[in-house]
Amino acid sequence: MAQANEQALVERIRKDFSLLGHVRWLASGATGPMSSHALGAIEEVQAGLYTGFHPEAWERDYPEEARSVVARLLGASAQEVALTRSTSEGLMAVGSSIPWERGDRIVISDQEYPANAVPWFYLARRYGLEVRVVQSVDGRLPLDAFARLVDRKTRLISVSHVQFGSGFRVDLAGLAELAQSHGALLVVDGIQSVGALCVPIRDLGVDALACGGYKWLCGPMGTGFLYVRRQVAERLVPQGAGFEHLASSEWDELWEALCGGGTWVRDAGELAEDAHRFDGIGHNFPLLAGLTAAVDYQLRLGPEWIERRVLALSGQLVELARSAGLQVLTPAADKERSGIVLLRGPWDLSQPAARMSLEEALRGRGVVVNVRAGGVRASCHFFNDEEDLRQLMVALTCSRLLA
Ligand SMILES: Cc1ncc(COP(=O)(O)O)c(C=O)c1O
Repeated sequence: MAQANEQALVERIRKDFSLLGHVRWLASGATGPMSSHALGAIEEVQAGLYTGFHPEAWERDYPEEARSVVARLLGASAQEVALTRSTSEGLMAVGSSIPWERGDRIVISDQEYPANAVPWFYLARRYGLEVRVVQSVDGRLPLDAFARLVDRKTRLISVSHVQFGSGFRVDLAGLAELAQSHGALLVVDGIQSVGALCVPIRDLGVDALACGGYKWLCGPMGTGFLYVRRQVAERLVPQGAGFEHLASSEWDELWEALCGGGTWVRDAGELAEDAHRFDGIGHNFPLLAGLTAAVDYQLRLGPEWIERRVLALSGQLVELARSAGLQVLTPAADKERSGIVLLRGPWDLSQPAARMSLEEALRGRGVVVNVRAGGVRASCHFFNDEEDLRQLMVALTCSRLLA
């Protein structure tokens, strides 16, 4: 896309996000802003369901709409997508469905957000498993570091596609090969990549991917999804099952009995063979409509365009920060980078008060970032522009902050 066209497009996009009229939002790694489309979808469904009587609002299949846009984004089938409330919920659903045997090993990395560590240590204590932690080198997690810890007792590798702190992007296809050659599953925490980078799930060979909707997808909090490859889903055994988890033929029969007055209290038995068996129960329709609108917005922009823009902006920020004498903890290579750039400067962020005052000082200059992993984490998304980056650098390098 020619530069002038792209600039015009970004200006139009920015108008869709009212938050961007107030601050320089470089914090999508924590929470993405919501577009007027997503907010409007939530309000419309809320009003349709609860204001007056609008039969069409009750007839829509909100879960299927959400499942279908997520499937399109990942290049999966809708049957491979379960709807959850968060990344954590998805990871726990997979973890608790594996028939563990004492001595099984789980491999994670020392960079993981706790959402992708706590569930594995918990299961390890409960079932006598061993969690092996790959040590990063300068924030990088090369394949050979995993290869040294993965062996025939490894049942599962669980890793973030993009690390929340450094923004390092792991080689998922390489990891999938490593996992497969040892008969292990590759489970991915996708919340720092999906929405910013293309994640062609089948090509990557991932077995399961958990994601929340509220960061790079710019969807509502309390939404998320879990992709599970069909052949993997049918081998996993959920800890619990509800009415909604039944195979569709069983569900239809039971519903028929329930409405028509047959015998509905009975052992209906069979669970859905696909990812449906991991669905959260109690869907929030307005929020799901918000997620659908948010993902649809990105599909219309084009995930390839979004990825190109995200990498161009984060690459630019790396350069700007280096020229300003800041330490960049994010890898420079495109294939190892994402939307996150982690910076260190002369400030000491080991104390909560120092972290808060740095965030506040930046906010005072109209820039929102997050302090994470001992540095300033700036998140570059498709709606950000060069002025956002310049203003961040001005705010960071002003003498008061660097003192
Ligand atoms: C890598 C990573 N995983 C998981 C989470 C938490 O996700 P959720 O709230 O969807 O469980 C975060 C939140 O910052 C994260 O950065």
